[in-house]
Amino acid sequence: MEPILIQKTNAPKEKIAPEKLGFGKYFTDHMFTVEYDHGVWKHPKISPYGKFEMEPGASVFHYGQALFEGMKAFRGATGKIHLFRPEFHARRIVEGAKRLCMPAVPQEMFLQAIEQLVKVDESWIPVAKDSALYLRPTLIGTESFLGVRPSEKYLFFIICSPVGAYYAEKFAPVKIWIEEKLIRAAAGGLGATKAAANYAASLQASTEAKKKNYAQVLWLDAAEHKYIEEVGTMNVFFRIGDEVITPSLDGSILGGATRDCVLQILKDWGIKTTERKLSLEEVLAASKNGTLKEVFGTGTAAVISPVGVLANDRYNITINNSEVGELTTRLHQEISAIQSGTKADKYNWVKILN
Ligand SMILES: Cc1ncc(COP(=O)(O)O)c(C=O)c1O
Repeated sequence: MEPILIQKTNAPKEKIAPEKLGFGKYFTDHMFTVEYDHGVWKHPKISPYGKFEMEPGASVFHYGQALFEGMKAFRGATGKIHLFRPEFHARRIVEGAKRLCMPAVPQEMFLQAIEQLVKVDESWIPVAKDSALYLRPTLIGTESFLGVRPSEKYLFFIICSPVGAYYAEKFAPVKIWIEEKLIRAAAGGLGATKAAANYAASLQASTEAKKKNYAQVLWLDAAEHKYIEEVGTMNVFFRIGDEVITPSLDGSILGGATRDCVLQILKDWGIKTTERKLSLEEVLAASKNGTLKEVFGTGTAAVISPVGVLANDRYNITINNSEVGELTTRLHQEISAIQSGTKADKYNWVKILN
């Protein structure tokens, strides 16, 4: 790979007060870009955050070849930069690219680009509790043509956004709408990838849910509307009796980095965890017989998000009196401590930059 050209801005932006951060509202001073043209990655560079110029015929606008990642960098307890699971994200974008007939982003380039960009923008990494620098690597088709086929040209770019809590509720339990009509993805489709198209498919249901004062949507399977899939931008876990159950990765849901962390941690804690099909009916029955103890979502943005209510016009399930559960709290603390470095990282999830 060519060395990354670094062009720093001479007009740095003002930093944002921590209480104003929210999620994804501000961008840092720089971005990474690299072009792909007929099999060759060209001109990797870090330059001032700014606009792209693209032809209206660019394939991303017509045929939707757009794929992204979401990961975080933290200011560690010792002042060093901590990247959380960069290799996981480097791998996942390659898997997604294959499904979308896009070129594999070389892992070495992905990791170098992340590291160098975060170093250039390191003054933007927030230090307040539960805040981080969110990184958005994105791959899009840029060749200008009409006709349905994969693009021969691409742009891979990374932008960074300093973020606070994902939900307005912060770590308080959220209300989730059980969506029984619209679907997000079907097995065999794009659901297992972070294709932009999945998020377009989700907007109608999540907009309607928000109007009714729900934070997110619980998706059910496309074929029968019976089995639980995931929640908005999170995987979902149910503590039923002394077991923790999460839907298995059957091709329509995203295999989350945080989901994987939670599975490993729970196993280490000796808690029985199962990945399998879980029906809404089973959750309703567990709620009725008192064995449904906790429900939480997992995702890079929110880390662990307690769920207090699952409801729609037909059902109304309140979980744990709408209070944060004990296991939910413990997992949130454990992952946050590993991310910030206040707890030893025996899993090798954190890449510390020198
Ligand atoms: C649809 C969807 N499911 C699950 C997740 C959780 O994945 P991760 O833990 O890798 O952020 C995300 C967020 O990336 C998502 O967008």
